[in-house]
Amino acid sequence: MKTKPVLEPLLVRALQCEPVQRVPVWLMRQAGRYLPEYRKLRQEHSFEELIKSPELATRVTLQPVERFDLDGAIIFFDILYLFEALGVNVTFDDSGPKVQSPFTSGKLDTSATRMSFEPGMFTHLAESLEMARKKLAREKALIGFVGGPFTLFSYLMPCVGESALLQARRLLLEQPGTGKEILATIAEVAGALAELQVKAGAQVIQVFDTWAGILPGDMFPEFAAPFIDIVLDRINNLGVPSIYFARNTTHLLGELKKLKASAISLDWTVDLKIASQVLGPEKALQGNLDPAVLLCGNNVIQDRVYKALRQGGESRGFVFNLGHGVPPQADPGKIELLVDTVRKGPT
Ligand code: CP3
Repeated sequence: MKTKPVLEPLLVRALQCEPVQRVPVWLMRQAGRYLPEYRKLRQEHSFEELIKSPELATRVTLQPVERFDLDGAIIFFDILYLFEALGVNVTFDDSGPKVQSPFTSGKLDTSATRMSFEPGMFTHLAESLEMARKKLAREKALIGFVGGPFTLFSYLMPCVGESALLQARRLLLEQPGTGKEILATIAEVAGALAELQVKAGAQVIQVFDTWAGILPGDMFPEFAAPFIDIVLDRINNLGVPSIYFARNTTHLLGELKKLKASAISLDWTVDLKIASQVLGPEKALQGNLDPAVLLCGNNVIQDRVYKALRQGGESRGFVFNLGHGVPPQADPGKIELLVDTVRKGPT
C-alpha cells in the first residue's frame, strides 16, 4: 500500500466515500473533438501522433482543465492501443478505429492473441502521465484508464457495431472455454497497463466497459465479472481507487455491487436512487447525466444538473459525470455552464 498524501484530491476522496465539501466533477471524453483547441492540433497531427508523443498527449490532457474548473484530468490515450500488447494491429482514421481481427475464420482461437506485454511498448503513456502530473494543480486528480475485458473482446470481432456485439455473444456461447482463456489474457494485459499508469502517476483508474451491459444477467457473472476483477485486484493492490463504467446496467446492479471497484459509473438509463439503494453505502457512484442535455438550452441544463445532484447526493460518495462521453457536437459554452452549476451546487 502507498502511504497516503496528507490531502488527496477531492475526486479521490469522494471515490473512497470520504466526506467532501462539494461534489467533484469531470467528464468522460472531456478531451476531444468538441474543443476547438483539440481540433486545431488534429489539423497538424494524426490521432496516433497526439497519443504517442508525450508532449502532445500532455497538452491534450490538460486542454479541458485549462478551460473548465474540472476536478480531474484524464490522460489522453485510447483503450484500443492495448491490442498492441496482444499482437493485434490497430489504426485510427477519420471513420474510427480499424482493428485487424484475429478471428476472421468466425471461430475463437487462443493462438491468435498472445500476451506480449512489455512496459517498453507504453513508455510514451508513462511519460505522458509523469508530465501531466507535474503540470496539473495538486488538488486535481490525474485519471488513468483501461478498457473492460468484454468491451475489448468485442472490438476484436471481424465486424463492427451491433454485428460485433452479436458475434461476441455468439462466440462466447459457442466456445465458452476458449472465450474465457482469451478474456483472461486481455484482463492480464489490462491489469498490467493499469499498474503501469498508477506507477507513472495516475491517482484513479477507470475501467471503460462500455458494452458489457448488452450481456444478459446470467452471462455477465460468467464472461465479464471475473475478468473485470482481475483488473480491479491489480488496481486495489496499488491502493488507488477504481471506477467501473458500463452502459445499460439496470439489470446488472446486483452484479456490479459484487465487483471489487470503489465506484460504479452509470449511464442515464439507470435510476440513480435505485442504483444507490442496490449498490449500498460501500460503493461510490458516478454519473449519469444524459449527454443530450448538453445540446439543450441553459435552463434545461441547470434543472437536470440540480436533479442529478439531489439524487446522487443521497449516496455516500458521488462524482458528477455524464452517462457517456461528451458528444463531438457539444458547445464548450454549455460544458462551462454545466461545470459551474455542479460546483455551485443546488440553489
Ligand atoms: O478525454 C478522454 O476521455 C480521454 C481520451 C479517450 C479517448 N478514447 C480518446 C479518443 C478515452 C477515455 C477513450 C475511451 C474509448 N475509446 C472507449 C470507451 C469509452 C466510450 O466512448 O465508449 C472506446 C469504446 C474507445 C474506442 C474508440 N476510440 C472509438 C470507437 C473511436 C471512434 C469513435 C469516437 O468516439 O471518436 C475512438 C477515437 C477516439 N478516441 C477519439 C478520441 C479523442 C476521436 C479521434 C479523433 O480525433 O478523430
